[in-house]
Amino acid sequence: MSDETRLIHAGKVAGALVKTVGPPIQKGSTVLLPNAEALYDDANYLTYGRAGLSAQTCLQDALAVLEGAVGVSLYPSGIAAISGAMMALLKAGDEILVVDNVYKPVRRFCDNVLKRFGVEVTYFDPAVSPETLVGTASDNVRMILMESPGSLSFEMQDTPRIAALARERGILTAIDNTWGAGLLFKPLAHGIDLSIQALTKYVGGHSDVFMGSAAARDPALVRRLADGVHHMGWAVSGEDAYAMLRGLRTLPLRMEKQGANGLKIALWLREQPEVARLLHPALPGCPGHELWARDFSGACGLFGFVLKPAPEAAVNAFLDALKVFGLGFSWGGFESLAIVCDPQLKVRRHPRDYGGPLMRLHVGLEDPDDLIADLRRGLDAYARLAG
Ligand SMILES: Cc1ncc(COP(=O)(O)O)c(C=O)c1O
Repeated sequence: MSDETRLIHAGKVAGALVKTVGPPIQKGSTVLLPNAEALYDDANYLTYGRAGLSAQTCLQDALAVLEGAVGVSLYPSGIAAISGAMMALLKAGDEILVVDNVYKPVRRFCDNVLKRFGVEVTYFDPAVSPETLVGTASDNVRMILMESPGSLSFEMQDTPRIAALARERGILTAIDNTWGAGLLFKPLAHGIDLSIQALTKYVGGHSDVFMGSAAARDPALVRRLADGVHHMGWAVSGEDAYAMLRGLRTLPLRMEKQGANGLKIALWLREQPEVARLLHPALPGCPGHELWARDFSGACGLFGFVLKPAPEAAVNAFLDALKVFGLGFSWGGFESLAIVCDPQLKVRRHPRDYGGPLMRLHVGLEDPDDLIADLRRGLDAYARLAG
């Protein structure tokens, strides 16, 4: 054969690869099939590189172990996992109940896309009782989406109770479990149908990769989620799946350290004169603590606190004085971050008066004493302008 042909076919991978502890990263859109019959075998999706490649499959298997799931679908971001699950499971004429403290871009998807496709969206108060929520749901309600704790204002819902009541009425339940990361809370073991995560946060853990997952136990649901991914044409890269798998290996260690650092800082903040109250479900006395203590095995590094009332300039001075905490919206990485939440709360249908500016901290892997010194610097700047 000529060089043109030989260069196309030379250097192919050996049948059996040497074994490393991580999976090989396969890069490929083309998948070579073993015989003619396999070309049109509708029983599987593994005829094209959007599904079935090594690192992605290993990540799905590992997440299934973490979540206690029968199957896990992967999506290119956390928001894509939430919107993807909705698109896979809802149809025109259905209604979805969405918790009012939901991650704001989910609300954007619901209001701008779901409604356009004829799905009614109702935002419920996270404080409503499970009995009222499910008892007053219309017959069109097909799904309830929860987020507990809420990732800005840290409300807890009795999600197992909501799931049990919803199941009796044939309503699916889903939770954005990014705070629990599949580790601190096990939604599927608590009867919730779908456990959704932004892997972008704690599983990735290094603030450099986007991905989302939806895990389920019911094989029919697993199949409908996989069909949804297939129909929408989503795929994640082998490199990104590998990075997620690497993050997963150290997830428990990072969570333990970040949770402990966060609690130390929360306890310190509680004693500071500028702080009105803490919103940290793992702290006794904070809203939702009893539910957290019943259902969760630990805390991550994300929590809120309320400053005593002060002009906006004082809040900005607090944030601008921070040198170790970065100012940024994401969380779940190795680094500490701070934001003020108030502008994001304006879209809520069931607003709360927190009695002062609501701040959110993500506590990373730095020495907590350095973080405390940084916060003191911020609070001093705040106090100078708070009057
Ligand atoms: C609670 C929560 N869910 C979902 C997401 C979406 O994740 P992604 O940025 O990967 O779309 C975020 C992102 O901040 C989040 O905070």
